[in-house]
Amino acid sequence: MRPMGRKKKTTLRIMPDSWLDPFDFKASFPHPEYPLEVDIGSGKGRFLTARSGKFPQVNFLGIERQLLRVNSSGRRCERAGRDNVRLFRMEGYYAISQMMPANYVANYYFFFPDPWPKARHENNRLFNPKFMDALYRTLENDGCLHVATDHLPYYEDIVALLNDDDRFQAITAFEPDDEERTDFELIFAHKEIGRCSFRKV
Ligand SMILES: C[S@@+](CC[C@H](N)C(=O)[O-])C[C@H]1O[C@@H](n2cnc3c(N)ncnc32)[C@H](O)[C@@H]1O
Repeated sequence: MRPMGRKKKTTLRIMPDSWLDPFDFKASFPHPEYPLEVDIGSGKGRFLTARSGKFPQVNFLGIERQLLRVNSSGRRCERAGRDNVRLFRMEGYYAISQMMPANYVANYYFFFPDPWPKARHENNRLFNPKFMDALYRTLENDGCLHVATDHLPYYEDIVALLNDDDRFQAITAFEPDDEERTDFELIFAHKEIGRCSFRKV
């Protein structure tokens, strides 16, 4: 029996044999042939739960470094009966640059990435030129990435980084429907949200 107060772990968490090598994430799903979409910093999984219900023939991977959030989003998807969602507890840059195979991901989603607003902490931000290399390497041809944030200076930096990179082309920004809005988007509903989407060319 579980000790009182301790919440159940999710069964949807991926545990690779090696944490140092590329990993075939698609093989963890019942239908490895479906396209893979990845939510980086997936939080408590509101987007993953809604989107995976809307698109049952797409596999969704949430990458999140906080264990409690991995478990809570996994439980949410289990309760909803999703078999097309898996969670990977890992730091996003490492997961994509070291473990994600090349030409592999149809869509990346970044919703409310930590903005690290203090100048001395900016190096902790996910978006930087090395991260662009990792996204480009792992996206399929014509694959896309979608960003939303309430932190407009970070939004402008991300757009500038992508606009300056010939390997990506701006497309119409992804707009979630109401059920897909993330927990952080609901918290920041009163604020202006910056949204952009780019396609690998
Ligand atoms: C502001 S929250 C947004 C969560 C969710 N996307 C949403 O919109 O509700 C940022 C999330 O990203 C995770 N995170 C931040 N940096 C990360 C990184 N480098 N790798 C993986 N997860 C990260 C945090 O643990 C947190 O859950």
